[in-house]
Amino acid sequence: MSRDSTGKVLTVAFVLCVICSILVSAAAVGLSERQERNKAEEKKRNILQAAGFYEADVPINAQFSKIETRIVDLQTGEFTSDFDAANFDSRSAARDPETSYRISPDLDLAGIKTRSRYKDIYLVMDGGELQQLILPVHGKGLWSTMYGFISLANDFTTVNGFAFYEHGETPGLGGEIDNPGWKKQWQGKKIYDEAGETRIKVLKGMVDKNAQNAVYQADGLAGATLTARGVGDLLKYWMGDNGYKPFIARLKTTGVKQ
Ligand SMILES: Cc1cc2nc3c(=O)[nH]c(=O)nc-3n(C[C@H](O)[C@H](O)[C@H](O)COP(=O)(O)O)c2cc1C
Repeated sequence: MSRDSTGKVLTVAFVLCVICSILVSAAAVGLSERQERNKAEEKKRNILQAAGFYEADVPINAQFSKIETRIVDLQTGEFTSDFDAANFDSRSAARDPETSYRISPDLDLAGIKTRSRYKDIYLVMDGGELQQLILPVHGKGLWSTMYGFISLANDFTTVNGFAFYEHGETPGLGGEIDNPGWKKQWQGKKIYDEAGETRIKVLKGMVDKNAQNAVYQADGLAGATLTARGVGDLLKYWMGDNGYKPFIARLKTTGVKQ
């Protein structure tokens, strides 16, 4: 057979394909554990950032030791030990008919259609005392589902930090939800009023600092009212009666040692 015969070309192409697919499969299998580890670390980093004590030069797992992960049954507001908290994935749970809950359209302020009945929540403890409660939230913006964490002080109403770690809003418009200045304004805002009503709101414009309700209001985003509205609506959903409110009410009466 000549060196350039069709048979030889096809054989070389075939052997090359086999070698390449073996290399790609080996890389995918070999790296999957590292990818999972990186994903888990990334999540922890976001939670630490929401808590306000992330330090880039300290190992994540060491910093995370102050944080306790628990799973909450949102229907009852109680903690549950039916799941392994360290490996619980509420996004998968929201897709599983066994663990998901269909939100009726009139209540679906966050525009998410279904959610997991169970959520992973994070308790920042110090000397056995709860310092902060960190809650995952998500909802529709203009183009994408926005995923974030909100951290509340131990009065369960004052915001310590609020940030999104995943979204597909337009950089410079809706993407300004990542702007450090916009994020900072959330510190000290209050979710609930004295009567326990969910009052937090994102305005279309800027908050009038002298307004009586300023503590329940956040600035909107110029040119990105639809994303900003999505942020306000998802907070109303998650902090309301169909989100974390029953859990927070229970936490206030029973504490973390349920
Ligand atoms: C290419 C393009 C991307 C846009 N991206 C966003 C976005 O990410 N978030 C958003 O709220 N509005 C976005 N807008 C603008 C919205 O269509 C809408 O005009 C805006 O939300 C209204 O806000 P305003 O009343 O503050 O101007 C985008 C518009 C264009 C043309």
